[in-house]
Amino acid sequence: MIKYIEETVTYLQDKGFENPEIGIILGTGLGQLIDEIEILKEVSYNHIPNFPTATVEFHKGKLIYGIFEGKKVVIMQGRFHIYEGYSLQDVTYPVRIMEKLGIKTLLISNAAGAINLNFKKGELMLIEDHMNLQGSSPLAFKGVEQLGERFADMSAPYDAEINTKFKAIAKNNNITLHEGVYASVVGPQLETRAEYRMLKILGADAVGMSTVPEIIVANHLKLKVAAVSVLTDECDPNNLKPVDISEIIAMAEKAEPNMITLFKELIKTL
Ligand code: HPA
Repeated sequence: MIKYIEETVTYLQDKGFENPEIGIILGTGLGQLIDEIEILKEVSYNHIPNFPTATVEFHKGKLIYGIFEGKKVVIMQGRFHIYEGYSLQDVTYPVRIMEKLGIKTLLISNAAGAINLNFKKGELMLIEDHMNLQGSSPLAFKGVEQLGERFADMSAPYDAEINTKFKAIAKNNNITLHEGVYASVVGPQLETRAEYRMLKILGADAVGMSTVPEIIVANHLKLKVAAVSVLTDECDPNNLKPVDISEIIAMAEKAEPNMITLFKELIKTL
């Protein structure tokens, strides 16, 4: 993997992706943050050597380099999921690339279902801890120890200082920001009523199909990380309606201005 990483990093550096400080992964329905960026360079994923290619049509699939609130950032517009058929190593490959380009901090957004029924759709949840329910690990491969410690510490995967800042920003801007545990599943099917009951019993507050692999690799690389979910649907097993993916995307878009405020104000402080 090291050779592939070097090749990808050299390509991006030649394209002008110089010393970004912060990486941002934008989730489903959360692409408008891009409008706030002074874009200096952008490359489609399918042009980047060794990158997995984008498949899900509502993701634009671009790596963007630019200035956001005075900071050099690299942004993934669209991410990779295992439900698209990628391996967990593929899904997390861009995190390893962003780290080699120079980022020290990684911020992630995603869309998730609310398991905790005190949380309502359209609200945001700061991920305070997670459960990996995807059945494997992005670190489970031969040679992983050449990239970081195999038995990566997960005692505090989310940066406490950033989370404290997020909470203060939310308060100052009258944004509801819950805190909770995010469970990652493979998908792409949504959960059954029995699965939502199980997730609640396990202690999850939200469920989604992403983020945890990237968080694991970011910790493997000792990056500071934080992640915020937009709650797009309420997963009440006793009152479950068929999920409409376009409704999920619409709900994520509706919550987007609040997400942008959180990220924008946070970056000013980093
Ligand atoms: N389950 C899994 N992933 C999701 C959901 C959900 O209910 N909502 C948005 N992403």
